[in-house]
Amino acid sequence: MTIRAVIYGVGPIGQLIARVAFSRGFDIVGAIDIDPQKVGKDLGEAIGLGKTLGIRIESNADKALKDAKPDVVLHSTGSFFDRIYPQIMKAIRAGADVVSTCETLAWPWYRYPDLAELVDNYARSRDVTVLGAGVNPGFVFDALPAVLSVTLTRLDKITVIRSLDASKRRYSFQKKIGLGMMPSQFTDALGRGEITAHVGFAESVLLLANITGLKLDRVEEGQEALIAERNYETQYFKIEPGQVKGVVGHGSGFINGKEVVRVELRACVGCEDFEEVRLEGDPPITWRSTGTPGDPATAAVIVNLIPRVLNARPGLITLKDLINYSYTA
Ligand SMILES: NC(=O)c1ccc[n+]([C@@H]2O[C@H](COP(=O)([O-])OP(=O)(O)OC[C@H]3O[C@@H](n4cnc5c(N)ncnc54)[C@H](OP(=O)(O)O)[C@@H]3O)[C@@H](O)[C@H]2O)c1
Repeated sequence: MTIRAVIYGVGPIGQLIARVAFSRGFDIVGAIDIDPQKVGKDLGEAIGLGKTLGIRIESNADKALKDAKPDVVLHSTGSFFDRIYPQIMKAIRAGADVVSTCETLAWPWYRYPDLAELVDNYARSRDVTVLGAGVNPGFVFDALPAVLSVTLTRLDKITVIRSLDASKRRYSFQKKIGLGMMPSQFTDALGRGEITAHVGFAESVLLLANITGLKLDRVEEGQEALIAERNYETQYFKIEPGQVKGVVGHGSGFINGKEVVRVELRACVGCEDFEEVRLEGDPPITWRSTGTPGDPATAAVIVNLIPRVLNARPGLITLKDLINYSYTA
């Protein structure tokens, strides 16, 4: 039976998700966005298919969802659960499962325990499933090291380092890491929430710890600007010496004052693309990749999870419910 999907959020990531879902044979039955530049356009044209799909991008989510009757909503409008949860509630009300790229939904009990309970109860009452996923949170800092840890008989510490060349990423990514800002402007904008840089360090740490059974007693996270020492240019930004060329950040999880989980991100113009997972214990193992291309990988993760979410238990779930193969503390 063909699975009916609605694209909720037709930004760069929603467009990639729509293209992958379309190419994989999912029946895209609706599209929602509030950007006036997109509302009223045909989805096929908006995502660059070169043909119309007969699906108008709608701004009225309730109506669009009622008309479309989707099995699943593929959601990518924002990073913070407290801002996007009304959208999730609309999808639940329409009786649809949800897979969302919202970073803080990957482990929603950390920042928003009350909202998590609200959405969990509502999803259960409507017999639908809600999942936050993506590439990070959703893969590199959590699901990947969790699965890799299965070959250890004793696990002392997990460290994940992700380095990526920000010049290869979409405009909204380059903007949110503050490219071209002066350092003080970056700090102010981050403090006021005008830019976010990476969101989800703590969520990844908690997701990873909960999958592997590590009982953390403290989590911390932080990030700061990387400053250009020469001129750089991307498709979207010109960066002069002294301006922001990227960010470096981390999340850490502790047991009795000892750091047992550490995830580190370095995202800058010209940074090398790689990921390294260091597992300390018995036997100690280091895995290294040539880098996961973040934007298409996010779309792949979301679309590949659709059948899993359709078959999952009702409620607000996390990847912990779907990944059952890891070291177990
Ligand atoms: N977990 C992961 O690994 C992962 C990976 C990639 C991206 N993400 C996250 O996924 C989200 C989407 O990424 P993006 O780059 O496509 O973001 P984006 O450029 O901000 O696009 C989001 C789109 O959703 C629209 N929108 C915002 N609020 C809406 C609402 N209430 N109803 C309907 N549409 C709404 C926006 O319209 P306006 O422009 O008018 O606001 C925009 O068109 C971001 O929060 C990003 O951080 C997560």
